[in-house]
Amino acid sequence: MSPFSESSLVWKNGQLIPWKDATIHLASHVVHYGSCLFEGLRAYETPKGTAIFRLKEHTRRLYNSCKIYRMEVPYTQDEFNKAVVDCVRANKLPACYIRPIIYRGYSMLGVNPFPNPVDCAVMVWEWGKYLGPEALESGIDACVSSWSRMAPNTFPALAKAGANYMNSQLIKMEALLDGYEEGIALNIRGHVSEGSGENIFLVIDGTVLTPPLSSSVLPGITRDSVMALFRDMGVRVVEETIPREMLYVADEVFFTGSAAEVTPIRSIDKITIGSGKRGPLTEKVQKAFFEVIDGKRADTRGWLTFV
Ligand SMILES: Cc1ncc(COP(=O)(O)O)c(C=O)c1O
Repeated sequence: MSPFSESSLVWKNGQLIPWKDATIHLASHVVHYGSCLFEGLRAYETPKGTAIFRLKEHTRRLYNSCKIYRMEVPYTQDEFNKAVVDCVRANKLPACYIRPIIYRGYSMLGVNPFPNPVDCAVMVWEWGKYLGPEALESGIDACVSSWSRMAPNTFPALAKAGANYMNSQLIKMEALLDGYEEGIALNIRGHVSEGSGENIFLVIDGTVLTPPLSSSVLPGITRDSVMALFRDMGVRVVEETIPREMLYVADEVFFTGSAAEVTPIRSIDKITIGSGKRGPLTEKVQKAFFEVIDGKRADTRGWLTFV
């Protein structure tokens, strides 16, 4: 994967500042203890201009993450949404990836985070297809990870915390070193959970299945979008505990995420999934998803925020 390209301005604590000045001190709490909550979302180029996909829902999840970690954000959600729009607009990128981040800054080191300020920032940059451009059509090869997702009541999976991504990195590194593009983690009970940075869906006999939030998964915004689009098509969607072996015998399996969008999985642990190609329901929901984000389908739910 190529490194991301720098954009010109970063929004930090209420101001737009040059990219090169958006730095923090080494003694910031977040550097030592992983104390940050973040989001990842995208702005897309549409015929009516640049539009951010499900901004309000991402900000809501960010604020929920902060609530779990007792971080009081010094902005309302509406103010934060405006900051994101301002940052995208100021950088003049027709399409970009957006990374809001709220973190414990610089004041005092020690596990107790309370003495440290809650700092807020929004970065944007141009970021292509997360799992490669061909992946959307041909699918990727994945493995079941030897690492489990966080146990309940340890690291809250509903919070998108930087620290959770140490677990994601273990899953991702193992997969890459073993020659796969992505790893699928189970939860500590051995049930299917999610990818290192994606939710997972299975299709079996025309029904779409995805693990429930109690299987240690992030409540993905793309997951929610895909479930809504399938239901619009009259396809049955169930959130259900999924045993590992169901992955191998499913007709179709795919990942969802703001970075990965809707990416088919063609093999798992070298077992071919279905026909080994993108399956028909995966293709159908991918098409519907891309029509919404490209502004080619009526945005009946108000998912797009124009910049
Ligand atoms: C661990 C994990 N699961 C799922 C997702 C998908 O969530 P979303 O669709 O909101 O991007 C992500 C991406 O942010 C993730 O990092």
